[in-house]
Amino acid sequence: MEAGARYVSPLDPHSPAARDIATLWWWMLAAAAIVFAGAIALLWLGWRRRGEPGLPWIGESERFNTGLVVAFGMVIPAVVLSALFVGANLVVMRDTEPPSRSATAMTIVAIGHQWWWEFRYPESGVVTANELHIPASTSVNLEARSADVIHSFWVPELNRKIDMVPGQRNRIELYAEHAGTYRGQCAEFCGLQHANMAFNVVAEPQSGFQSWLRQEQAPAEPPQGAEAVAGMRAFMEGACASCHTISGTEARGTVGPDLTHVASRATLAALTGPNRHGFLDQWISDPQSIKPGSKMPGLELTEAQFRSLVAYLSGLR
Ligand code: CUA
Repeated sequence: MEAGARYVSPLDPHSPAARDIATLWWWMLAAAAIVFAGAIALLWLGWRRRGEPGLPWIGESERFNTGLVVAFGMVIPAVVLSALFVGANLVVMRDTEPPSRSATAMTIVAIGHQWWWEFRYPESGVVTANELHIPASTSVNLEARSADVIHSFWVPELNRKIDMVPGQRNRIELYAEHAGTYRGQCAEFCGLQHANMAFNVVAEPQSGFQSWLRQEQAPAEPPQGAEAVAGMRAFMEGACASCHTISGTEARGTVGPDLTHVASRATLAALTGPNRHGFLDQWISDPQSIKPGSKMPGLELTEAQFRSLVAYLSGLR
């Protein structure tokens, strides 16, 4: 399995909102199963007695036939659909509404890009990509924005989807009951690499989250060793720096993910592969073979430049 490619299901809830959604799903399944069973039973009865008039235990009764149509065609659907409408729209939608900003402990801005995620922590100035860290059992106000087309932010185990609409700011609550890693996925078709637009939510105990935040606030590690120093030069002088930011250096591009602490992330290219030698090498040397259509170009690099670039980037902890 690729890094992060874990089985995720909205039926494995890890927050009160997700539990509400899962409960609604089971009710809907139960209602659909009963209606389906009823329809199949009537169909079966009709087939068994084809060519014969009436029903076995009541004979030919016009009133009964009308009653059957009224019950199954009108009353039952009206009752079932009304009940589900109340459950879905009045109860679950209300319960999964984001709380007021002041009721949340912090705000994170998530920005959808074709095809990766930018995460900003306005209160601490941290900017990262594709790996969203939150403190566990803490209410987080997530603001969803888009840099280009419509995306949809969805962490099935934590809450419902929220659309990321250009020019608009939507909100949702992120809350994880326990520490853990929860996979998120873009849930609105947004182009060629929509399927490869995933991210991880890493929920940690408060102390772990705070130390992650401090680590992320720090500027990038200076390169260690001659190869990494050469790699930094290749990065700054080549095309990389015009698309990526590495804080503490002159690289300030905003087209691609912030790479200040890229080596500390578990995956690359929005969970397309593990952040390890091998995948990193392949991603730099031929990104279009991994993620066709992405804005990351294949660069004309000498073997030495390529090696040094890998050495530099893997040192950015
Ligand atoms: Cu972004 Cu689909």
